[in-house]
Amino acid sequence: MLTQEIIRRKRDGQTLDRKMLDLVMGGIADGSIGDAQIGAFAMAVYLNGMNRDEAVALTESIRDSGQVMRWGGPGDLGCAGPVLDKHSTGGVGDLVSLILGPWVAACGGHVPMVSGRGLGHTGGTLDKLESIPGYDVTPSDAVFHRLVKEVGVAIIGQTGSLAPADKRLYGVRDVTATVESIPLIVASILGKKLACGLETLVMDVKVGSGAFMPTQEASRELAEAIVAIGCGAGTRTSVLLTDMNQPLADCAGNSLEVFEALRLLGGHGKESRLHQVTRSLAQEMLIQSGLAGDAEEADKRLNRALDSGEALERFSRMVQGLGGPGDLAEHAGHYLLSAPVTVDLEADRAGFLSTIDTRALGLGVVELGGGRRNAGDAIDHRVGLSHIAPLGQRIEPGQPLLRIHAADRDDADAVSQRLRRAFGLSEAPVEPPPLVHATLR
Ligand code: URA
Repeated sequence: MLTQEIIRRKRDGQTLDRKMLDLVMGGIADGSIGDAQIGAFAMAVYLNGMNRDEAVALTESIRDSGQVMRWGGPGDLGCAGPVLDKHSTGGVGDLVSLILGPWVAACGGHVPMVSGRGLGHTGGTLDKLESIPGYDVTPSDAVFHRLVKEVGVAIIGQTGSLAPADKRLYGVRDVTATVESIPLIVASILGKKLACGLETLVMDVKVGSGAFMPTQEASRELAEAIVAIGCGAGTRTSVLLTDMNQPLADCAGNSLEVFEALRLLGGHGKESRLHQVTRSLAQEMLIQSGLAGDAEEADKRLNRALDSGEALERFSRMVQGLGGPGDLAEHAGHYLLSAPVTVDLEADRAGFLSTIDTRALGLGVVELGGGRRNAGDAIDHRVGLSHIAPLGQRIEPGQPLLRIHAADRDDADAVSQRLRRAFGLSEAPVEPPPLVHATLR
């Protein structure tokens, strides 16, 4: 069938089957379909949507457009325990992956985590890991597979052979106003994740002022589609809708977030929002993969893995296996660079912290040099924000709202007004939002 006939069908509101989608995704992956047809296809899907079966078929076509990892059966890569992962729609101060991967590995899971770089106002796991000197996010397949089997976790970047159709399709969507389409978003996210051969996937869909989807309704619609399409494509998939009305950690920035990951993996900060959300996601992963029978058993395993030092040990082995220093945890201050200038941003009036424009804080980190203005920009891993005051806190005049970590004083001054405007204060006490808004299975 001609590509233009497939596009015509979608344009006219008809459905596409797996064969047709394989033709289009195969042609995108091997370069035989040009950008004009990719753009027309994306726009036809954007305007007419897809039913569940079509979206499942699109996800499977993207997954199968390149190498699909197989861990379990005879002749496969050979993992002893369940293969599972978590993926987030992205946020600010969201360093869950750095903690969760090693923590779940220490509970018997195998986590082949293929992560991304910062996008817009959100931070990227790979950028954070590259704060660690020597850490290689593009190892050979052999190294990646060995670490997933032996250590239980490896966090790396996308390889060229993984879901190649998505790379081109996403690039064209980005410049043809077709990013915001639920079937295209879900097939893009899940196509890449499922190519890693997962039995279980837990998605963290963010809700609130720093989330990718602007409203509660849109986040929930995305979450429902992820569960339906992930399960339809043969991977046990559940979603936690978690709060992004404030940064998840009280810091944001690459080195700062690695410091925080080491602190939590070391068993500190158990009362923090970051710990609680990471624990909720880990619990769901253990239960869905059969590593724990219920929440109580999952909690016991998670406590043991953290308190025994096993989770931190897995992180250290992963770092060393990917070229970083084996003694990072013991000498973090030596390896992770700190910014030369720190400035406290003080409140100019009293009140209860009622709103935080989380997106603005994320953009502040980008402006300081902690993210990219243009693709290919170098990142300053030292800069960012810390000591970010939480929603609901009583603030007095002169009390810090956050601390800016900058390359120099001018950079700190340049972002301070924008950052100050990101905080809303009210006279009346404020109840902080829940950490987990809902769980969908
Ligand atoms: N992230 C992805 O990987 N794909 C999308 O379409 C949107 C976010």
